[in-house]
Amino acid sequence: MNDKGVDFSHRPVLLGECLEALRIKPDGVYIDATFGRGGHAAAVLTRLGPAGRLLGWDKDPQAIAEAQQKFGAEPRFSIHHGSFTEMRQVLAEQGLLAKVDGVLLDLGVSSPQLDDAERGFSFMRNGPLDMRMDNSAGVSAAEWLAEAKETDIAKVLKEYGEERFSKRVARVIVEARQEAPIETTAQLTAIIKAVMPRQREQDKHPATRSFQGIRIFINRELDDLRLCLEQVLEILNQEGRLAVISFHSLEDRIVKRFMRDQARGDDFPVDLPVTVDQLNPTMRLLGKAIRASKAELEQNPRARSAVLRVAEKI
Ligand SMILES: C[S@@+](CC[C@H](N)C(=O)[O-])C[C@H]1O[C@@H](n2cnc3c(N)ncnc32)[C@H](O)[C@@H]1O
Repeated sequence: MNDKGVDFSHRPVLLGECLEALRIKPDGVYIDATFGRGGHAAAVLTRLGPAGRLLGWDKDPQAIAEAQQKFGAEPRFSIHHGSFTEMRQVLAEQGLLAKVDGVLLDLGVSSPQLDDAERGFSFMRNGPLDMRMDNSAGVSAAEWLAEAKETDIAKVLKEYGEERFSKRVARVIVEARQEAPIETTAQLTAIIKAVMPRQREQDKHPATRSFQGIRIFINRELDDLRLCLEQVLEILNQEGRLAVISFHSLEDRIVKRFMRDQARGDDFPVDLPVTVDQLNPTMRLLGKAIRASKAELEQNPRARSAVLRVAEKI
């Protein structure tokens, strides 16, 4: 809740735009690859008839628990704990390859993940330095930072956080861990803040980029996104739709390039006289990137960096 009593925690981003993009058919099969707290899923379900189906995914055990509690008795819905990179395999087992009418990806972390200090995603809240979406497996941010080479830390901060001072931050992290293990978000935030030039980016906390970089690395976010997009053409039926909401430029670039390459088709030397059909495009772009309206931003400031892109399988 904020001071005006507005609850931001479960507000699905670009909801109307996503529903329009997915063009829900009452008897269709849909995938919500990032269930979160089920905001988008709930809206899709209200548009499905008795023969429709919605399959959900999430890495986060808490999201799965929420899905079971909210929709456990819903026969049209199933939830899968794991990465959305497992989609092709699960759909093949269920005989649903090339039968899906729409896939929605609402990338990144959810508001409840950010708001819960215990998950360790936020430099605004002190908690254990975890940052795993799936906190039932894998290596936490604290465990990784305790062992990683300085050069690897710098690389992660630069590539995934686009942190200009990556080398400097990596150096102080390694110096600090020789004194004491870095176990909390507050410790890491203080270490970063101390070496950042003052007033560098007025609208950004000095730890924003480093936290983003470490989070993306720990959760393999960009690799998972690429692997998932590779599967989409096998999953969607003809005219099936892909709608992806990204929250930063690294994700959006991957989505934009994927959709553009599919819409462009095969590569031919520029001087070969081939028609568009001969290039075998596999997808059609539907409109340009969509951003949240002013009205939505007033209600939900977290939608400010959201970009929705939509494409249809040909
Ligand atoms: C922005 S939230 C989704 C919010 C959701 N649309 C809603 O309305 O509540 C993103 C969710 O995707 C999950 N997630 C991110 N990457 C994932 C992946 N590779 N596989 C499965 N779930 C993932 C996160 O754990 C998080 O719960």
